[in-house]
Amino acid sequence: MEPFYRGRRLRKNAAIRSMIRETRLSSEDFVLPIFVVEGENIKEEIPSLPGIYHYSVDRLDEIASQMEQTGVPACILFGIPDHKDSCGTAASDPEGVVQQAMRRLRQLSPDLYIIGDVCMCEYTDHGHCGILNARGEVLNDATLPHLAAIALSYAEAGADMVAPSDMMDGHIAALRRTLDDAGFENVAIMGYSAKYASAYYGPFREAAHSAPAFGDRKSYQMDPANGREALREMQADLDEGADILMVKPALAYLDVLKEGSTQFNLPFAAYNVSGEYAMLKLAVEKGLMNESVIPETLTAIKRAGAKLIITYFALEAAEKLKKGEW
Ligand code: PBG
Ligand code: ZN
Repeated sequence: MEPFYRGRRLRKNAAIRSMIRETRLSSEDFVLPIFVVEGENIKEEIPSLPGIYHYSVDRLDEIASQMEQTGVPACILFGIPDHKDSCGTAASDPEGVVQQAMRRLRQLSPDLYIIGDVCMCEYTDHGHCGILNARGEVLNDATLPHLAAIALSYAEAGADMVAPSDMMDGHIAALRRTLDDAGFENVAIMGYSAKYASAYYGPFREAAHSAPAFGDRKSYQMDPANGREALREMQADLDEGADILMVKPALAYLDVLKEGSTQFNLPFAAYNVSGEYAMLKLAVEKGLMNESVIPETLTAIKRAGAKLIITYFALEAAEKLKKGEW
């Protein structure tokens, strides 16, 4: 029997494959996560994230010039403070590591798009993403003013966008109101709308010293079993004024990304998280998989609906794309 449909005709050679390719990665898709630590002259590889470093503010010139050279337009900053307390006060300190890093990066690369991750877990001594009551429960409404203060301090330090990753209800509205009242109506908000309680964050928590001291994050981050609930979260963020919606992690949640980006008419981001990075990095390093698994994976995230891809591969991927190797 001769087949009627021959899909192979359009796979015959590189020219036609390229002409009909639906999804193309570009350095402009990427947002690079940067970890900033206190101290001086520090550039230290993070053991759980090979190829990714802790930087002190005075060493950020290196990474800023790498971003410029490779054409990565944006970064998202995470701070690792020396001082932690129950309310995470260091997070909104105008002289905090992230705020200093924002001012430094703005000086180094005026056109760099700077995003600040708004959360408390790196700054609280208990490692949870909000304020606790006596029973150790994370209080939603009491946490909101703290998050708003962090976002405001980022805006004052020159952030273009703030991205609350705490999963408190009503946080987008709280941040929007605070930013607008202070005259920062052009600072954008990216909601970590569908952020799941995921084991894929393991390497990040080691890198950011942000593992909860007790319990887990299941009372605020989403149940991995739920897709429909993610759409409800996205709707809430949209209604509260988010400019971009995010799905996190990316790979095990591509269905959520696809569904959300089909239903909602605003740009979507996907966070290709630390565990996803570490898995591929180690597998390639050990020779278990060819390096092309990296562009394959990033392309899949874009195909599923992400306009922005937050990824630890950003610099490496942008470099390869620039050289035409991917
Ligand atoms: C903080 C935060 C986390 C990540 C981004 N912001 C960790 C967490 O929720 O425990 C994870 C990023 C990654 O794994 O790469 N709330
Ligand atoms: Zn957190």
